[in-house]
Amino acid sequence: MPNHDRTFNFSAGPAGLPLPVLEQAQQEMLNFRGCGASILEISHRSPAFIDVLDSARDGIRQLLGANDDFEVLFLQGGSRLQFSMVPLNLLQSDTDRGNYVVTGTWSEKAHQEAANCHATDMIWSGKENGYSELPDQTDLQSLVTNDAAYVYYTSNETIQGIQFQDDLSFAVVPSVCDASSDFLSRPIDINKYGMIYACAQKNAGPAGVTIVVIRKDLLSPTLNECPGYLNYRNHADANSLYNTPPTFAVYMVDLVCQWLLNDIGGLEQMHQINREKAELLYATIDGLPDMYSGHAAPANRSLMNVTFRLPSQELTDLFLKQANDQGLTSLQGHRSVGGIRASIYNSMPPEGVLALRDFMNSFYTQNSNSR
Ligand SMILES: Cc1ncc(COP(=O)(O)O)c(C=O)c1O
Repeated sequence: MPNHDRTFNFSAGPAGLPLPVLEQAQQEMLNFRGCGASILEISHRSPAFIDVLDSARDGIRQLLGANDDFEVLFLQGGSRLQFSMVPLNLLQSDTDRGNYVVTGTWSEKAHQEAANCHATDMIWSGKENGYSELPDQTDLQSLVTNDAAYVYYTSNETIQGIQFQDDLSFAVVPSVCDASSDFLSRPIDINKYGMIYACAQKNAGPAGVTIVVIRKDLLSPTLNECPGYLNYRNHADANSLYNTPPTFAVYMVDLVCQWLLNDIGGLEQMHQINREKAELLYATIDGLPDMYSGHAAPANRSLMNVTFRLPSQELTDLFLKQANDQGLTSLQGHRSVGGIRASIYNSMPPEGVLALRDFMNSFYTQNSNSR
């Protein structure tokens, strides 16, 4: 069992937060930096909160290497709202189409939402193979349609546990990436993106804030017909204070950025730690094929969500129960997929993954006769 009576929490989201971040929030809770009130109780226009907002924005810029060509916005409505905001903002003429790469549950939902009201094309789908594989970037390039205004994809499919290893970029057309479950987990080349966004509750903070990083030239030149809150330009013009932002969540994102920059040492280091954690689990799965079988094609395995199955539902239930008893919690796979999903985002310490690896080995030893 880890310190502080806290379990090793493998939740897919809202997920664990780094312990130093929680401790700092706890320590600053009653009197936030001399305000005489908590961060929850002060105006979003107060100098103390504006400092937090500026610091969170700078932290994201620094981690992603995003210069002034990009806006960093803090929005609400989760990643789901982006499924609508992307086409509403980026399809600016009647002839524009959104191109969608559908690799799993989340990109499927994004495409469905966009297709309800907008001109879209699904240029690739992995549904037939159970969303266990990803397309090759060069193959995708040839599928982009002439009238595409953007190509939309999901860098890490949280439910299936498959992840693009590279930033996707397309000649002429900007890429729009839902990075909800691998944001800030590795360095990216931000200049390859037209827009990248993430809800915070996996790698970047708590639920309640969605971070959008968008190239300024993609903001509509004038306010178009879309409702005010849904227009990126309104948020950009108002410095993310178009309405009351989720102040506490923005504060937590700032603390996570500071932790990544100062404690971890940046995204290269974070990526290395994440690679090592994931390799431990995949090696265990591959080493015990009688007990564990991975969902993702090996070349497309996610470093964030490790998905695998056991030979029967009885063994799966036993695995979950015994793991839980040992302080390894929230390992059940998504209800649509079943099996096991170990979400090992930035905040999961290597000791948590080692504890799971040891548990998987001993579970195999104890149950290898009952397969
Ligand atoms: C890749 C991805 N996109 C979108 C979402 C939806 O996010 P939200 O619940 O914040 O709307 C999730 C949530 O798990 C996700 O993992």
